[in-house]
Amino acid sequence: MSFFDIVSFVLIIIAVIFEYYYIYTLIKSKMGKYPPFIPTKKAMLQEITEAASSVLSAPDFKNVVEPGCGDARILKTLAMAYPQHSFVGYEWDYVPYFLAKLKTRKFKNIKIKRQNFMTADYTSTHLVVLFTGNEIAQELSAKLRQDLPKGAIVISESFELPNFTCLKMQETGKKNHFFLDQKLYIYQA
Ligand SMILES: C[S@@+](CC[C@H](N)C(=O)[O-])C[C@H]1O[C@@H](n2cnc3c(N)ncnc32)[C@H](O)[C@@H]1O
Repeated sequence: MSFFDIVSFVLIIIAVIFEYYYIYTLIKSKMGKYPPFIPTKKAMLQEITEAASSVLSAPDFKNVVEPGCGDARILKTLAMAYPQHSFVGYEWDYVPYFLAKLKTRKFKNIKIKRQNFMTADYTSTHLVVLFTGNEIAQELSAKLRQDLPKGAIVISESFELPNFTCLKMQETGKKNHFFLDQKLYIYQA
C-alpha cells in the first residue's frame, strides 16, 4: 500500500464520518426546524457578555440557562465572571455536548444536560441566553412565557422572540457566519 493510498483511505473515512454526522444532525433537527451547531463568533461573545453582565450584577439574577448551549462558550465566559451564579446548558447533539462537557469540566457552577431544551424546566431561571432560529422561535417563546418567572430576562442572539416585550434591540455592528448583521434582542418576561 502506497502513501497515497493511505492518505486517500483516511480522507474517505473522514468524509464518511462527516456525511453521517450531517445526516444525523439533519434528522435530529427535524429537517431544519431545530438549529444545527453553529457556534457564536468570538466578537459576539463579548457583546453577549456585556449585555448579560448588566443583568447578572443585579442581586436576584443568579440562575442562567442556555437552551442549545453548543460547546458552552457563552456559559463558560459568564461562569468565569460570575462564579457564585449557577449555569445550566441544554444540548442534544453529541459532538457539541461532548465539547461542552470537556470545556466546562473544571466549573462547579456549570451543568451541561443532554436534553431537548423544549422539555427543560425554566421556572426558576432568571436569565436565558439563546442563539436558536426562526423555525423554533414561536414554540420556544410559548414555552418560555409559560415557565419563566415574571421579570426574567431573555437575551436572544440574532433571532426575535414573538410574544415577548422587547426591552432593547442592540445593533452590534458585527456580521454573522453568513455575513448578515448581528443583533441582540433583550426581552423581559
Ligand atoms: C446555533 S447553535 C448555538 C450554540 C451556542 N448557543 C452558541 O451560541 O455558540 C444551536 C445549538 O442548539 C442545539 N439544539 C438545537 N435544538 C435543540 C434542542 N431541541 N434541544 C437541545 N439542543 C438543541 C444544536 O445542537 C446547536 O448546538
